[in-house]
Amino acid sequence: AKPVIVAIDGPSGTGKSSTSKAVAAQLGLSYLDTGAQYRAITWWMVDNGIDLADPVAIADVAGKPEIISGTDPSAPTITVDGVDVAGPIRTQEVTSKVSAVSAVPEVRARITELQRTLATGAEKGIVVEGRDIGTTVLPDADLKIFLTASAEARAARRSGELKGADVQATREALIKRDAADSSRKTSPLAKAGDAVEVDTTELTLAQVIECVVTLVEEKR
Ligand code: C5P
Repeated sequence: AKPVIVAIDGPSGTGKSSTSKAVAAQLGLSYLDTGAQYRAITWWMVDNGIDLADPVAIADVAGKPEIISGTDPSAPTITVDGVDVAGPIRTQEVTSKVSAVSAVPEVRARITELQRTLATGAEKGIVVEGRDIGTTVLPDADLKIFLTASAEARAARRSGELKGADVQATREALIKRDAADSSRKTSPLAKAGDAVEVDTTELTLAQVIECVVTLVEEKR
């Protein structure tokens, strides 16, 4: 089969990561979590004391950290200048700051280039998840999926993941981040015109995975 490129976009808490990893593993494809890359560069900026209220300061150092993503869906990895940051990029601090960093065009240009290199290098194909994959990063993807879910379902899933986190606070933080990601000027979170929209509110993870696997198989 020829390499197949799958773009999976959508807001937070819609099941993008769980779905993308499982689909890639089932079909023998590579997997790229682009949110982890934006989190990694944000972690580096925080660690280096960059003023995140200043887009110029962010732009000035956007090219500095070396970010490497491991694309095996059964064991995805992410390092910054050789440091494993898989844990630290999931803290509330990074989560609350990532939208300010990811809105800076110089950051997006840099990370988008990394994403395209990984996607074209994937021998058997790749599942790439994010916010702007179908619209900007890989507009020629073989299949584009846009996952949605009600705000309630998304907050409930996220607070479940964060063990004991307050659902109401999670819901507010999530809505705020999605609003920032959807309203930024450079490649905002958006559904591509040719994307298949899947509302996951009433679906189990297994059902979403099956639905996407079927759609990929139709393209191969
Ligand atoms: O998917 P995840 O929640 O880990 O993404 C973290 C953040 O990274 C998003 O809120 C968004 O600001 C940014 N992001 C982005 N473009 C992508 C993927 C993520 O701007 N393709």
